Amino acid sequence: MELLPKDRNGCPYLFLAPMEGVGDRCFRRAMASVGGFDEAVTDFLRVPTNAHVQSLARVYEAEETKPIPLAAQLMGSDIELMAAMAKEVEKRGAPRIDLNCGCPSNTVTGRGAGSSLLKDPDLLHQVAKSLVQAVAIPVTIKMRSGYEDTSLFKENLLAAQESGAKYITLHPRTKVEGYGPPARWDLIAEAKSILKIPVVGNGDILSVNDAIQMLKQTSCDALMIGRGSVVNPFIFHQIRSHFSGTRYLNSWEDLKIYLQTYISEIPNESSEKLKINKMKQLMGFLFKSNAALFEKRQQMLTTTYTDLHSFLHFSMPLLQERWV
Ligand SMILES: Cc1cc2nc3c(=O)[nH]c(=O)nc-3n(C[C@H](O)[C@H](O)[C@H](O)COP(=O)(O)O)c2cc1C
Repeated sequence: MELLPKDRNGCPYLFLAPMEGVGDRCFRRAMASVGGFDEAVTDFLRVPTNAHVQSLARVYEAEETKPIPLAAQLMGSDIELMAAMAKEVEKRGAPRIDLNCGCPSNTVTGRGAGSSLLKDPDLLHQVAKSLVQAVAIPVTIKMRSGYEDTSLFKENLLAAQESGAKYITLHPRTKVEGYGPPARWDLIAEAKSILKIPVVGNGDILSVNDAIQMLKQTSCDALMIGRGSVVNPFIFHQIRSHFSGTRYLNSWEDLKIYLQTYISEIPNESSEKLKINKMKQLMGFLFKSNAALFEKRQQMLTTTYTDLHSFLHFSMPLLQERWV
Protein backbone atom coordinates (compact mmCIF):
# COMPACT_ATOMS: atom_id res chain seq x y z
CA MET A 1 0.00 0.00 0.00
CA GLU A 2 1.24 3.47 -0.87
CA LEU A 3 2.38 5.32 2.25
CA LEU A 4 1.31 8.83 1.32
CA PRO A 5 -1.53 8.42 -1.18
CA LYS A 6 -3.21 11.45 -2.72
CA ASP A 7 -7.01 11.47 -2.66
CA ARG A 8 -8.95 10.91 -5.88
CA ASN A 9 -8.88 14.64 -6.64
CA GLY A 10 -5.12 14.88 -6.29
CA CYS A 11 -5.09 16.38 -2.77
CA PRO A 12 -1.87 15.34 -1.03
CA TYR A 13 -1.88 13.26 2.14
CA LEU A 14 -2.62 15.54 5.11
CA PHE A 15 -1.23 15.18 8.64
CA LEU A 16 -2.35 16.73 11.89
CA ALA A 17 0.92 17.81 13.59
CA PRO A 18 1.99 16.69 17.05
CA MET A 19 1.73 19.56 19.56
CA GLU A 20 2.67 18.84 23.14
CA GLY A 21 0.56 20.85 25.58
CA VAL A 22 -1.92 22.07 22.96
CA GLY A 23 -2.53 19.03 20.81
CA ASP A 24 -3.34 16.57 23.56
CA ARG A 25 -5.93 13.80 23.58
CA CYS A 26 -8.81 16.31 23.99
CA PHE A 27 -7.66 18.18 20.90
CA ARG A 28 -7.00 15.08 18.82
CA ARG A 29 -10.42 13.66 19.67
CA ALA A 30 -12.07 16.98 18.82
CA MET A 31 -10.15 17.17 15.53
CA ALA A 32 -11.13 13.58 14.74
CA SER A 33 -14.79 14.64 15.14
CA VAL A 34 -14.18 17.22 12.41
CA GLY A 35 -11.96 15.01 10.22
CA GLY A 36 -10.46 16.01 6.88
CA PHE A 37 -6.91 14.81 7.60
CA ASP A 38 -5.44 11.40 6.80
CA GLU A 39 -3.32 10.74 9.85
CA ALA A 40 -2.52 12.11 13.28
CA VAL A 41 0.48 11.58 15.52
CA THR A 42 0.78 11.77 19.28
CA ASP A 43 2.76 14.55 20.87
CA PHE A 44 6.13 13.17 21.92
CA LEU A 45 6.31 10.23 24.27
CA ARG A 46 9.58 10.88 26.05
CA VAL A 47 11.59 7.75 26.73
CA PRO A 48 14.00 8.69 29.52
CA THR A 49 17.03 6.57 30.24
CA ASN A 50 15.34 4.94 33.24
CA ALA A 51 12.04 4.30 31.47
CA HIS A 52 9.74 1.45 32.32
CA VAL A 53 8.56 1.00 28.76
CA GLN A 54 5.48 -1.14 29.43
CA SER A 55 3.88 1.44 31.70
CA LEU A 56 5.02 4.36 29.53
CA ALA A 57 3.52 2.76 26.42
CA ARG A 58 0.09 2.63 28.09
CA VAL A 59 -0.29 6.34 27.35
CA TYR A 60 -0.59 5.43 23.68
CA GLU A 61 -4.11 4.55 22.53
CA ALA A 62 -4.45 3.57 18.89
CA GLU A 63 -8.24 4.05 19.00
CA GLU A 64 -8.06 7.68 20.05
CA THR A 65 -8.66 9.24 16.62
CA LYS A 66 -10.56 6.31 15.09
CA PRO A 67 -11.12 5.86 12.13
CA ILE A 68 -8.13 8.13 11.45
CA PRO A 69 -4.82 6.34 12.19
CA LEU A 70 -2.71 7.69 15.05
CA ALA A 71 1.07 7.25 14.84
CA ALA A 72 3.19 7.24 18.00
CA GLN A 73 5.98 9.77 18.28
CA LEU A 74 8.92 8.72 20.44
CA MET A 75 11.62 10.95 21.79
CA GLY A 76 14.86 9.76 23.33
CA SER A 77 18.38 8.72 22.48
CA ASP A 78 18.87 5.48 24.40
CA ILE A 79 18.98 2.98 21.56
CA GLU A 80 17.82 -0.09 23.47
CA LEU A 81 15.03 1.64 25.35
CA MET A 82 13.75 3.37 22.23
CA ALA A 83 13.63 0.03 20.40
CA ALA A 84 11.83 -1.61 23.33
CA MET A 85 9.34 1.25 23.46
CA ALA A 86 8.73 1.02 19.71
CA LYS A 87 7.89 -2.67 20.13
CA GLU A 88 5.46 -1.91 22.94
CA VAL A 89 3.53 0.73 21.01
CA GLU A 90 3.52 -1.50 17.93
CA LYS A 91 1.87 -4.18 20.12
CA ARG A 92 -0.70 -1.59 21.15
CA GLY A 93 -1.71 -1.08 17.52
CA ALA A 94 0.42 1.87 16.38
CA PRO A 95 0.45 2.05 12.57
CA ARG A 96 3.76 3.95 12.48
CA ILE A 97 6.56 5.15 14.75
CA ASP A 98 7.82 8.70 14.35
CA LEU A 99 11.19 9.72 15.82
CA ASN A 100 11.27 13.23 17.27
CA CYS A 101 14.34 15.17 16.13
CA GLY A 102 12.91 18.59 16.70
CA CYS A 103 11.83 19.29 20.26
CA PRO A 104 13.70 22.44 21.34
CA SER A 105 13.07 22.18 25.10
CA ASN A 106 16.29 22.39 27.07
CA THR A 107 15.26 19.73 29.57
CA VAL A 108 14.97 17.40 26.59
CA THR A 109 17.93 18.45 24.50
CA GLY A 110 20.16 18.37 27.56
CA ARG A 111 19.82 14.58 27.52
CA GLY A 112 20.74 14.15 23.87
CA ALA A 113 17.18 13.70 22.63
CA GLY A 114 14.79 15.74 20.46
CA SER A 115 16.57 18.40 18.41
CA SER A 116 19.99 17.63 19.91
CA LEU A 117 20.07 14.49 17.76
CA LEU A 118 20.62 16.99 14.93
CA LYS A 119 24.07 17.78 16.37
CA ASP A 120 25.17 14.23 15.75
CA PRO A 121 24.04 12.63 12.45
CA ASP A 122 25.67 9.32 13.48
CA LEU A 123 23.61 9.12 16.64
CA LEU A 124 20.47 10.15 14.74
CA HIS A 125 21.21 7.32 12.31
CA GLN A 126 21.77 4.78 15.10
CA VAL A 127 18.61 5.68 17.00
CA ALA A 128 16.46 5.65 13.86
CA LYS A 129 17.99 2.39 12.66
CA SER A 130 17.36 0.70 15.99
CA LEU A 131 13.67 1.61 15.62
CA VAL A 132 13.56 0.36 12.02
CA GLN A 133 15.08 -2.95 13.10
CA ALA A 134 12.78 -3.30 16.11
CA VAL A 135 9.40 -3.07 14.40
CA ALA A 136 7.57 -4.19 11.26
CA ILE A 137 5.53 -0.96 10.96
CA PRO A 138 6.99 2.06 9.12
CA VAL A 139 9.39 4.33 10.98
CA THR A 140 9.54 8.01 10.04
CA ILE A 141 11.44 11.02 11.34
CA LYS A 142 10.26 14.52 12.16
CA MET A 143 13.09 16.99 12.15
CA ARG A 144 14.07 20.61 12.23
CA SER A 145 16.63 22.08 9.83
CA GLY A 146 19.42 21.98 12.39
CA TYR A 147 20.39 22.71 15.97
CA GLU A 148 22.25 26.03 16.02
CA ASP A 149 22.52 26.39 12.27
CA THR A 150 21.94 24.37 9.13
CA SER A 151 25.55 23.20 8.65
CA LEU A 152 24.59 19.54 9.20
CA PHE A 153 21.33 19.77 7.26
CA LYS A 154 22.36 17.47 4.42
CA GLU A 155 24.17 14.99 6.70
CA ASN A 156 21.09 14.71 8.91
CA LEU A 157 18.78 14.16 5.96
CA LEU A 158 21.02 11.44 4.57
CA ALA A 159 21.45 9.84 7.99
CA ALA A 160 17.65 9.70 8.24
CA GLN A 161 17.29 8.17 4.78
CA GLU A 162 20.03 5.62 5.30
CA SER A 163 18.52 4.48 8.59
CA GLY A 164 15.61 2.97 6.66
CA ALA A 165 13.05 5.63 7.60
CA LYS A 166 10.17 5.61 5.13
CA TYR A 167 9.85 9.40 4.94
CA ILE A 168 10.74 12.52 6.85
CA THR A 169 8.73 15.52 7.94
CA LEU A 170 10.67 18.76 7.86
CA HIS A 171 9.86 21.76 10.05
CA PRO A 172 12.42 24.12 8.52
CA ARG A 173 13.57 26.10 11.51
CA THR A 174 16.62 25.38 13.66
CA LYS A 175 16.31 24.53 17.34
CA VAL A 176 17.71 27.95 18.20
CA GLU A 177 15.08 29.69 16.06
CA GLY A 178 12.29 28.07 18.08
CA TYR A 179 9.06 29.22 16.45
CA GLY A 180 10.20 32.78 15.69
CA PRO A 181 11.33 33.54 12.15
CA PRO A 182 9.32 32.37 9.13
CA ALA A 183 9.75 28.69 8.28
CA ARG A 184 12.30 28.35 5.46
CA TRP A 185 10.33 26.59 2.78
CA ASP A 186 13.38 26.76 0.48
CA LEU A 187 14.93 24.10 2.76
CA ILE A 188 11.96 21.81 2.13
CA ALA A 189 12.65 22.18 -1.61
CA GLU A 190 16.32 21.46 -0.93
CA ALA A 191 15.45 18.34 1.07
CA LYS A 192 13.34 17.17 -1.87
CA SER A 193 16.33 17.56 -4.17
CA ILE A 194 18.63 15.64 -1.80
CA LEU A 195 16.43 12.73 -0.74
CA LYS A 196 14.92 9.75 -2.52
CA ILE A 197 12.39 9.12 0.26
CA PRO A 198 9.30 11.37 0.45
CA VAL A 199 9.34 14.68 2.32
CA VAL A 200 6.37 16.00 4.27
CA GLY A 201 6.34 19.81 4.32
CA ASN A 202 5.49 21.56 7.57
CA GLY A 203 5.60 25.09 8.97
CA ASP A 204 3.42 28.19 8.76
CA ILE A 205 0.49 26.78 6.79
CA LEU A 206 -2.36 28.95 8.01
CA SER A 207 -4.63 28.97 4.98
CA VAL A 208 -5.54 27.04 1.85
CA ASN A 209 -3.38 29.44 -0.11
CA ASP A 210 -0.37 28.72 2.13
CA ALA A 211 -0.86 25.00 1.50
CA ILE A 212 -0.98 25.51 -2.26
CA GLN A 213 2.05 27.78 -2.17
CA MET A 214 4.08 25.30 -0.13
CA LEU A 215 3.28 22.51 -2.59
CA LYS A 216 4.22 24.76 -5.50
CA GLN A 217 7.42 26.15 -4.01
CA THR A 218 8.79 22.93 -2.54
CA SER A 219 7.26 20.00 -4.49
CA CYS A 220 6.87 18.26 -1.14
CA ASP A 221 4.95 14.98 -1.11
CA ALA A 222 2.49 15.66 1.71
CA LEU A 223 1.56 18.40 4.19
CA MET A 224 1.51 18.61 7.97
CA ILE A 225 -0.38 21.35 9.82
CA GLY A 226 -0.16 22.26 13.50
CA ARG A 227 -1.10 25.71 14.74
CA GLY A 228 -3.14 26.48 11.63
CA SER A 229 -5.53 23.71 12.63
CA VAL A 230 -5.96 25.01 16.19
CA VAL A 231 -6.93 28.42 14.81
CA ASN A 232 -9.10 26.86 12.11
CA PRO A 233 -10.09 23.22 12.76
CA PHE A 234 -11.67 23.07 9.29
CA ILE A 235 -8.48 23.87 7.36
CA PHE A 236 -8.00 20.28 6.19
CA HIS A 237 -11.50 20.13 4.69
CA GLN A 238 -10.91 23.49 3.04
CA ILE A 239 -7.66 22.28 1.44
CA ARG A 240 -9.35 19.09 0.27
CA SER A 241 -12.25 20.98 -1.26
CA HIS A 242 -9.83 23.23 -3.13
CA PHE A 243 -8.67 20.12 -4.95
CA SER A 244 -12.19 18.84 -5.60
CA GLY A 245 -13.26 22.25 -6.88
CA THR A 246 -16.02 22.61 -4.29
CA ARG A 247 -16.50 25.11 -1.50
CA TYR A 248 -16.36 23.83 2.06
CA LEU A 249 -18.44 25.79 4.51
CA ASN A 250 -18.53 24.66 8.09
CA SER A 251 -21.69 25.30 10.07
CA TRP A 252 -21.94 26.61 13.61
CA GLU A 253 -23.15 23.11 14.52
CA ASP A 254 -19.83 21.65 13.29
CA LEU A 255 -17.88 24.04 15.49
CA LYS A 256 -20.14 23.25 18.45
CA ILE A 257 -19.55 19.51 18.02
CA TYR A 258 -15.80 20.17 17.90
CA LEU A 259 -15.95 22.15 21.16
CA GLN A 260 -18.31 19.70 22.85
CA THR A 261 -16.02 16.80 21.97
CA TYR A 262 -13.07 18.71 23.39
CA ILE A 263 -14.91 19.50 26.64
CA SER A 264 -16.19 15.95 27.03
CA GLU A 265 -12.59 14.67 26.93
CA ILE A 266 -11.40 16.87 29.82
CA PRO A 267 -11.20 14.50 32.79
CA ASN A 268 -14.20 14.98 35.07
CA GLU A 269 -12.07 15.11 38.16
CA SER A 270 -10.18 18.20 36.89
CA SER A 271 -10.72 21.36 38.92
CA GLU A 272 -12.91 24.12 37.46
CA LYS A 273 -9.81 26.30 37.21
CA LEU A 274 -8.03 23.72 35.10
CA LYS A 275 -11.07 23.23 32.88
CA ILE A 276 -11.36 27.00 32.35
CA ASN A 277 -7.64 27.33 31.58
CA LYS A 278 -7.77 24.50 29.06
CA MET A 279 -10.75 26.05 27.33
CA LYS A 280 -9.11 29.48 27.40
CA GLN A 281 -6.09 28.02 25.65
CA LEU A 282 -8.21 26.49 22.90
CA MET A 283 -10.48 29.53 22.53
CA GLY A 284 -7.38 31.74 22.52
CA PHE A 285 -6.49 30.13 19.18
CA LEU A 286 -10.03 30.28 17.75
CA PHE A 287 -10.25 33.97 18.68
CA LYS A 288 -7.25 34.57 16.41
CA SER A 289 -9.14 33.38 13.34
CA ASN A 290 -10.45 36.78 12.29
CA ALA A 291 -10.28 40.47 13.24
CA ALA A 292 -13.75 40.57 14.80
CA LEU A 293 -12.91 37.73 17.17
CA PHE A 294 -9.41 39.00 17.81
CA GLU A 295 -10.89 42.27 19.06
CA LYS A 296 -12.53 40.33 21.90
CA ARG A 297 -9.67 37.93 22.59
CA GLN A 298 -8.00 39.85 25.40
CA GLN A 299 -11.29 40.39 27.21
CA MET A 300 -12.18 36.71 26.86
CA LEU A 301 -8.80 35.70 28.29
CA THR A 302 -8.65 38.18 31.19
CA THR A 303 -12.23 38.09 32.50
CA THR A 304 -12.59 36.14 35.75
CA TYR A 305 -14.97 33.21 35.62
CA THR A 306 -16.37 31.23 38.53
CA ASP A 307 -16.70 27.98 36.60
CA LEU A 308 -16.58 26.46 33.12
CA HIS A 309 -20.26 27.21 32.63
CA SER A 310 -19.74 30.95 33.13
CA PHE A 311 -16.75 30.89 30.77
CA LEU A 312 -18.85 29.25 28.06
CA HIS A 313 -21.74 31.62 28.76
CA PHE A 314 -19.40 34.51 27.96
CA SER A 315 -17.36 33.11 25.09
CA MET A 316 -19.79 30.99 23.06
CA PRO A 317 -22.18 33.81 21.99
CA LEU A 318 -19.16 35.86 20.87
CA LEU A 319 -17.84 32.94 18.88
CA GLN A 320 -21.23 32.26 17.32
CA GLU A 321 -21.72 35.89 16.37
CA ARG A 322 -18.25 36.45 14.94
CA TRP A 323 -17.04 33.09 13.58
CA VAL A 324 -16.80 33.17 9.80
C1 LIG B 1 2.78 23.96 21.44
C2 LIG B 1 3.55 23.13 20.47
C3 LIG B 1 3.95 21.86 20.81
C4 LIG B 1 4.66 21.06 19.90
N1 LIG B 1 4.98 19.76 20.24
C5 LIG B 1 5.60 18.96 19.32
C6 LIG B 1 5.83 17.59 19.59
O1 LIG B 1 5.45 17.04 20.63
N2 LIG B 1 6.50 16.87 18.65
C7 LIG B 1 6.91 17.43 17.46
O2 LIG B 1 7.51 16.74 16.64
N3 LIG B 1 6.67 18.70 17.18
C8 LIG B 1 6.01 19.49 18.06
N4 LIG B 1 5.73 20.79 17.75
C9 LIG B 1 6.07 21.31 16.39
C10 LIG B 1 4.88 21.15 15.44
O3 LIG B 1 4.55 19.80 15.22
C11 LIG B 1 5.20 21.81 14.08
O4 LIG B 1 6.35 21.21 13.53
C12 LIG B 1 5.44 23.31 14.20
O5 LIG B 1 4.48 23.92 15.05
C13 LIG B 1 5.38 23.99 12.83
O6 LIG B 1 4.16 23.71 12.18
P1 LIG B 1 2.90 24.74 12.19
O7 LIG B 1 3.41 26.07 11.71
O8 LIG B 1 1.91 24.12 11.25
O9 LIG B 1 2.40 24.83 13.59
C14 LIG B 1 5.02 21.59 18.63
C15 LIG B 1 4.63 22.89 18.30
C16 LIG B 1 3.89 23.65 19.18
C17 LIG B 1 3.47 25.05 18.77
